[in-house]
Amino acid sequence: MAGRQQAVLPFPRFTHPRAQPKQLSPEFAPPIVQGIRLVAPNDLPDRFRSIFSFPLFNAVQSKCYTTVYGSDENVVVSAPTGSGKTVILELAVCRSLLKCEGGQYKIVYMAPTKSLCSERQRDWQAKFSSLGLNCAELTGDTDHAQLRHVQNASIIVTTPEKWDSMTRKWKDHAKLMQLVKLFLCATSPLELQSEPR
Ligand SMILES: Nc1ncnc2c1ncn2[C@@H]1O[C@H](COP(=O)(O)OP(=O)(O)OP(=O)(O)O)[C@@H](O)[C@H]1O
Ligand SMILES: [Mg+2]
Repeated sequence: MAGRQQAVLPFPRFTHPRAQPKQLSPEFAPPIVQGIRLVAPNDLPDRFRSIFSFPLFNAVQSKCYTTVYGSDENVVVSAPTGSGKTVILELAVCRSLLKCEGGQYKIVYMAPTKSLCSERQRDWQAKFSSLGLNCAELTGDTDHAQLRHVQNASIIVTTPEKWDSMTRKWKDHAKLMQLVKLFLCATSPLELQSEPR
């Protein structure tokens, strides 16, 4: 047919709405950051979701997720300040809850200073008490009356000095020592140097 012209598709290329690429919600298409597929707290059992108040674990947390929540490997994480390392400890606590459910056990968290212990105790008592885990401080300031609370708590937050003195007399605390199933530790050279303990 004479005078036939080739049609040129107008821009944009997708004219029919069904041809548009789908906008998937993060639940179905987790973003990939620096080659790491971000994990969502929604992947966890319902009861753990309230522990995490954000929609996605960040890259550091997602990288550690399988090892910390999905295995019993020992893990050392070295990441910048403010990168969300506390969440990685919380994932480890969730795993121990899954594994030791119903049984009696202790989780020990060692923080560099007494003030960091107090802060962590308050935060974790608020977060984990609804899951049946009480959190108690065990530092040089803990008096005899408070020791009963420590004995009954599932999470013990302590300083290196206090835990050192406990382990030196471990036979006096044998019952408690035998119940320790998870040991968490945070160190910061700056905090170690600058704060009184
Ligand atoms: N996945 C996330 N999405 C949004 N906010 C987050 C996420 N993870 C952690 N945060 C927030 O980031 C802040 C810093 O987290 P956190 O205190 O755990 O960092 P850190 O690595 O332990 O720092 P530091 O080395 O100073 O102890 C907190 O306010 C925390 O609530
Ligand atoms: Mg921290």
